Amino acid sequence: MSSRFYVTTPIYYVNDIPHIGHAYTTIAADIVARRHRLLGDEVFFLTGTDEHGQKVEKAAQDKGRSPKEQADLMVDNFRGLWRKLNISHDNFIRTTDPEHIRTVQGLLQMLWDRGEIEKREYTGWYCTPDERFWTEKDLVENKCPDCGRPVEQIREENYFFLMSKYQERLIAYINENPSYIMPESRRNEVLGFLRTNDLGDLCISRPKQRLAWGIPLPFDDGFVTYVWFDALVNYFSATRYLAPGAEQAKAGDFWWPASLHLVGKDILTTHAVYWSTMLMALDLPLPGTIFAHGWWTIEGKKMSKSFGNMIDPHTMADTYGVDAFRYFICREVTFGLDGDFSEEALIQRINTDLANDLGNLLSRVLTMTEKYFNGSMVKPSPFGRALSDYSRECIGAYANAHRQESWDRLQFSAILSHIWEMVRAANNRIAQTEPWKLAKTDIPGLQEVMFDLWNTLRLVALSLFPFMPETSVKIWQQLGLKSLIEETERTRREGSVLPGIYDQEWMPDYAVVVSKGEQLFPRIDTKMKEAKNMTEDTAPAAQTAESPAAEPSNLIPIQDVMKVELKVGKIISAERVKKSDKLIRLQVDTGEPRQVVAGIGKAYTPEELVGKNIVVVANLQPAKLMGVESQGMLLAATGADGVPIIITPEKDVEAGAKIK
Ligand code: MSP
Repeated sequence: MSSRFYVTTPIYYVNDIPHIGHAYTTIAADIVARRHRLLGDEVFFLTGTDEHGQKVEKAAQDKGRSPKEQADLMVDNFRGLWRKLNISHDNFIRTTDPEHIRTVQGLLQMLWDRGEIEKREYTGWYCTPDERFWTEKDLVENKCPDCGRPVEQIREENYFFLMSKYQERLIAYINENPSYIMPESRRNEVLGFLRTNDLGDLCISRPKQRLAWGIPLPFDDGFVTYVWFDALVNYFSATRYLAPGAEQAKAGDFWWPASLHLVGKDILTTHAVYWSTMLMALDLPLPGTIFAHGWWTIEGKKMSKSFGNMIDPHTMADTYGVDAFRYFICREVTFGLDGDFSEEALIQRINTDLANDLGNLLSRVLTMTEKYFNGSMVKPSPFGRALSDYSRECIGAYANAHRQESWDRLQFSAILSHIWEMVRAANNRIAQTEPWKLAKTDIPGLQEVMFDLWNTLRLVALSLFPFMPETSVKIWQQLGLKSLIEETERTRREGSVLPGIYDQEWMPDYAVVVSKGEQLFPRIDTKMKEAKNMTEDTAPAAQTAESPAAEPSNLIPIQDVMKVELKVGKIISAERVKKSDKLIRLQVDTGEPRQVVAGIGKAYTPEELVGKNIVVVANLQPAKLMGVESQGMLLAATGADGVPIIITPEKDVEAGAKIK
């Protein structure tokens, strides 16, 4: 029986480009959505962008754009990334969509009419970057308790949602619904907070003179809506115009409530407390589960622009492959806990789990099938064939990888490790049975072994589909299977082939001929990677045109060239680096703002540089040149006497355009 499943990601701020944290939540939601589609459920997977509020207004101001221009520009970064990462969202919401704005205003009006909102004078401590008010006792050393930045005292009239009156009801709801907030540790945190603190009322407006970029309150146009009130409503408003069959929504058959909100731990309170109480006040049902995942640190450090250690998911996917990246972030860390990201760990996983274990297995099984049976996979005689220990082991691992409880708890890493139990069992089976020896002495025995291995790979491909869709389809096709992988599980659920495809004896009713394709996961040469890593000391040499990077001693493969991300950048401003006659600090628009320090100060003045289009190596590790961080390298030719000559595109192109 199919049911409906509605999964959401947070909607992402358009003040900046996406990083690994955004990719993490979205990939997790994609895995869940794909799993439910495989099970035959009707799925609505929603993601989108959060476009109002101070953060976006400020980012736009800094770049000399209107907030809407900023949003229009940045939204493509998210859309493009989701395309690249193979995200299967059904729709994309923007909080500037007119339908969303109408819904927010409609709900506000309803709360106002019901007396759930009140106007009050308020004095509070305001953290501008976080857009949050704090009371005096919240502050830590007079600073924002969340981000540690200075706060300012603000006194103004505002509208308040009477959240406090829902405190007891919320506690009771969380108590009665153990899977409302997950994982359990987070649930306990929220409960602990609610039991020991008095929930205040929530300020849901901002006076227009302080913040213009927001949805006007329907009952007082001197104010705009607090960005979180606006943003949270997206999950509901989308069901009115973006969900499958949204037209029916008008007749009352709409997708609310969501089955699962996936969020990072930092935004759990806004979801568990603000959103839940807003829904209570609106008499709307609460979502099924709010699941908070942990945060990534980068090589042990907090990820932050100022550390220059932001991980760009585009670069990761381009360098290592989309599926390898998806695999790594789900396998490396238990979903829910914090984790540490490093390229070394990613390479390690690729070389061991993906290239060695899985890639080799497929390649060996297909090679042997081609060699011994001309590529044909024949079903061994079913009679008298007892279930071997091997089959039992695989069936056990398979069952564990599909255990509903593991999926309910989003235990991606454990699920993947069960899938790898099958992969390892198959590799062991090859080592133990030595098919190349059977080929000389025992053809029926060889047939049986090859069939078992083929079958295991089939089950591995099926199980991997939500995590690594492209890889699993490749395996499926190389195994000679013609059906659509997405339809297989549904067929089983509908019962037409039961016990069917999970039966160890299962085979399709057409002749199966395997076809070996290219290697799934080529090993990554770690030495090459080390050579790429520059130390701070050597960085300046490589960053300036006068001292180009060392001449390569041999030719490089095309893959190495592909790793270099070149972009067109427009120089927005330029100034000399203090105490250096060579270095110029450039602010460059490469689709996103970045600072590049270049050794061109003897050939160019800062004034003549502004407005020029240049070519920038965009995925270079940041380095410091005379204490100033450079986030990339500008390309220049070496002219007569070693004078650098900047390379510019022959025609005017947009900042951020890729160079291939
Ligand atoms: N716009 C709000 C969400 C509104 S939802 C109604 C927002 N946007 S965000 O762009 O700042 O962040 C979105 C997500 O990125 C959050 O879930 C957050 O937890 C996640 N991450 C940001 N940095 C992260 C890491 N370093 N690691 C993992 N996830 C992180 O908040």
